[in-house]
Amino acid sequence: MVTRRRLVAAAVLLPLARTALAQTCGQVTARQTEGPFFKPSSPQRVTLIEPGAKAPRLVVSGRVLARDCQPLKGALLDFWHADEQGDYDNRDFRYRGHQFTDADGRWRLETILPAVYPGRTRHIHVKVQPAGGRILTTQLYFPGEPENQRDGIFDPELVMRMSGRGEGAFDFVVG
Ligand SMILES: [Fe+2]
Repeated sequence: MVTRRRLVAAAVLLPLARTALAQTCGQVTARQTEGPFFKPSSPQRVTLIEPGAKAPRLVVSGRVLARDCQPLKGALLDFWHADEQGDYDNRDFRYRGHQFTDADGRWRLETILPAVYPGRTRHIHVKVQPAGGRILTTQLYFPGEPENQRDGIFDPELVMRMSGRGEGAFDFVVG
């Protein structure tokens, strides 16, 4: 009887679990403008921290998932953001770098907290491209930033989950 009851419970719960997963991964991550400061051919690296940088450190991590929640191995993530003064490096590659997801679709970026620059709230730019797939250009945001509500590009769906000030998480879902 116990076994039978368990089977019935499993039969009820499995579709529920599928629904929950579908809700998590079904929505493709929103696209955003790349802005004026993207530069191709960034170096491959997981840390962007410059020697001697005194700005607060930031670690951002997450996964790249397909719409059916499958983790995507070998997806390209190309990050760029403003430095501690709110400036982009348009001559060289400071605070620019790309990396690829591991077998579980995971990525991890070590960097500094980008400064806010006039006209925008605090953000990180990123291009995500599944192997052989279409590029998703978007931006990541920080919760609780005063400028979020005044920034016309800001999208609450692109806010990272933060543990403390220095650790953010975000899963990209690509179509
Ligand atoms: Fe920007």
